[in-house]
Amino acid sequence: MRDTYARAEKIVSTLSTDDKIRLVSGKDAWTTEPVDEHGVPSILVTDGPHGVRKQVSADDHIGINDAVPATCFPTAVTLGSTWDPDLVEEVGAALGRESRANDVSVLLGPGLNIKRHPAGGRNFEYFSEDPFLSGKMAAAMVRGIQSQGVGACLKHYAANNQEFFRMSVDTVVDNRTLRELYLTGFEIAVKESQPWTVMCSYNKVNGEHADISRDLLTDILRDEWGFDGLVMSDWFAVSDRALAICAGLDLEMPGSSGAWDAEVKAAHASGLLTTAELDLAATRVIDLALRAQNDTGSSQVDPAAHHELARRAAAAGTVLLTNDGILPLERTGSIAVVGSFAKKPRYQGAGSSLVTPTQVDTFIDALRAAVGDAATVHYAQGYDVATGETEEALLTEVREAARKADVVIVLAGLPDSYESEGFDRDHLRLPDGHIATIAAAAEANDRTVVALLNGAPIEMPWADGPAAIVEAYLGGQAGGAALADVILGDVAPGGRLAESFPVSASDVPADRDFARHPKQVQYREGLYVGYRFHDSAGVPARFPFGHGLTYTAFEQSGLTVRKTKEGYSVTVTVTNAGPRAGSEVVQVYVRDPESIAYRPEKELKGFAKVHLEPGTSQKVTVRLDRRAFAVWDIRAQEWRVEPGAFEILVGASSTDIRARRTVTVAEGEAVFPSHGPSAFVATDDEFRTMLGADIPEVPSVLPYHRDSTTEDLHETATGRAIAAIMTQEAGKQFDWEHADATTKRMFDANVRTAPLRQIAMESQSKLTLASLDRLIKLLNVTSAKAWRARG
Ligand code: BGC
Repeated sequence: MRDTYARAEKIVSTLSTDDKIRLVSGKDAWTTEPVDEHGVPSILVTDGPHGVRKQVSADDHIGINDAVPATCFPTAVTLGSTWDPDLVEEVGAALGRESRANDVSVLLGPGLNIKRHPAGGRNFEYFSEDPFLSGKMAAAMVRGIQSQGVGACLKHYAANNQEFFRMSVDTVVDNRTLRELYLTGFEIAVKESQPWTVMCSYNKVNGEHADISRDLLTDILRDEWGFDGLVMSDWFAVSDRALAICAGLDLEMPGSSGAWDAEVKAAHASGLLTTAELDLAATRVIDLALRAQNDTGSSQVDPAAHHELARRAAAAGTVLLTNDGILPLERTGSIAVVGSFAKKPRYQGAGSSLVTPTQVDTFIDALRAAVGDAATVHYAQGYDVATGETEEALLTEVREAARKADVVIVLAGLPDSYESEGFDRDHLRLPDGHIATIAAAAEANDRTVVALLNGAPIEMPWADGPAAIVEAYLGGQAGGAALADVILGDVAPGGRLAESFPVSASDVPADRDFARHPKQVQYREGLYVGYRFHDSAGVPARFPFGHGLTYTAFEQSGLTVRKTKEGYSVTVTVTNAGPRAGSEVVQVYVRDPESIAYRPEKELKGFAKVHLEPGTSQKVTVRLDRRAFAVWDIRAQEWRVEPGAFEILVGASSTDIRARRTVTVAEGEAVFPSHGPSAFVATDDEFRTMLGADIPEVPSVLPYHRDSTTEDLHETATGRAIAAIMTQEAGKQFDWEHADATTKRMFDANVRTAPLRQIAMESQSKLTLASLDRLIKLLNVTSAKAWRARG
């Protein structure tokens, strides 16, 4: 047992019940309660994940006010595309140092939810559509942050894969899919990096809010995976504080000015909440604070060095999608740079992760500096940076600039208002203005390169037009310079897609039920998410998972698969047979050709990235353990390997398999048959079978309860009147004058979708939960009367 934990237990044994209850809720938006008489400090937690967002104002949580300047590293989508855990660990260590320098004890990240649908508003904050890759990247980030004596926080646990009504929606998902897709990343990260904290999500999972799920927070997280840190709530995600403590939620964040205290006390007095359970939570809060006191790690921050690291990481996550040979660009002649993003880059996403950068590199400045007098650089705006719209005069300018230039580089992508925490995208298209700008440039000059700044996949019906497409994602504050590095070939494009780019959103099975119903989302596609779908269904993605070109040519040869004590060791020789330095990602997939449980065509189970000079080779070994072959057995409720033949596929993307070997796994157990959706979206019968239960009814809006949202109130006349007052009151707290369009949209989504209980929790004791209950009762009585009167 940790020293700090033993000390925490002793301290808790001296505390009164009231003190313990006080401790298990935050002090304010960002800090925990201290225990002064025992030297337990109040500690500061902040967002996360790709930079330190220490708010200037203590009570602002959705990032409307400025945070102190910090290095804005590439967002998770870009870091995920590096496929380089060592580099991500380095970034994590830098984040740890900056946290320490700002007296931040826990950085709220990484986020590692699975990208179930490319339109997820927060996909930029997550690593991948694949749980293995997500888990490995998250573990690396946690190791880095914690190497500096700062805690990391895995979020948002669990099955929080959309922003639409994230606070109340019920994720209906079968057990096998939950385990194999949505929990595996968390499991890997917990086991491989021992995070200090985990954050539970807002949503329900199969009918139960995550904060009160004993199954998720204790049975799986602690008892099965061995998590020994603290679980905190997402901000205002507590649905029932007493039940949450019983379930294993240690810390309510932020503090709710004692909103729940009376109920927790009553639950304790009645025996519903045991002293042992309350003690556990209080002990973990104190343990965390004491751990944070330990003076390990460094707070020495060299902003210039961190900026350089951010630049390196951005280039390593930049994916070369297509290239007819135009890239790397020669430094001669005249270059037209088109698109407002060249001067005002999009480099991070909106919401709680918004960092105030220490500096921002623009592509055009970086390009000009890099080419010097060797080439001339002209600029045309193309589109409005905020709206993404264009007009004829701007397009004429683009055509003229493109015609005169030897080569054109168009920066396009998604404006800020398209991607944010709090809402999802309605479609995957680029703004019309960006499409028109690309078309104008490509028609005027066939030497046109498109570089994309966006946090998630887009549809690209125009992909065959440009001579090259570079996916730069959201590269952080040095993203502009990193893009110039890659385009000029000063740095090799190091990225591989950690997600599939579908031809069209409607190809994706999850599209049938994504962000549609405020109360429920059914994961009828089961395991068929991302490449697991594309490769199983034979519906090609426009750019597949794992894809990314280089400026050189890699060969993978001499595949050998050797049996080891733990499983198999897969070795392949990678040779850089081309003219330039570069990096290759060896991807190892496992395929089960014959299985009693349905399985996707193949699944990623290992990978390794190598950097090679031209003409050099390196042997790469990837180890596969038993788990690489296992399925979640729905009857035994454990991981089981069905003995028999498995194929090990090694290649450079999920569709570029270079070699395969068959192995026969002899040891294993009988696996219970499980059937998936035969046409990739389960029918009612199939879904019932997958769930092993009836499909839950969509919860009705009436009668109202604490989880009802402001939007629900619109169902009844009295509700509407109250909703109007609530919206008005909430609006008074908001800085309309300074907020941008995205923050306004996020605020609006927040107000519409926050459960009523949150209003009490935020009210600083002005509205107690008891008064809220009376109000709800009244609302229900009046709405029932109204119904009866209607006849
Ligand atoms: C987000 C979390 C974030 C927290 C604090 C929540 O709305 O979902 O990711 O850490 O706010 O800002």
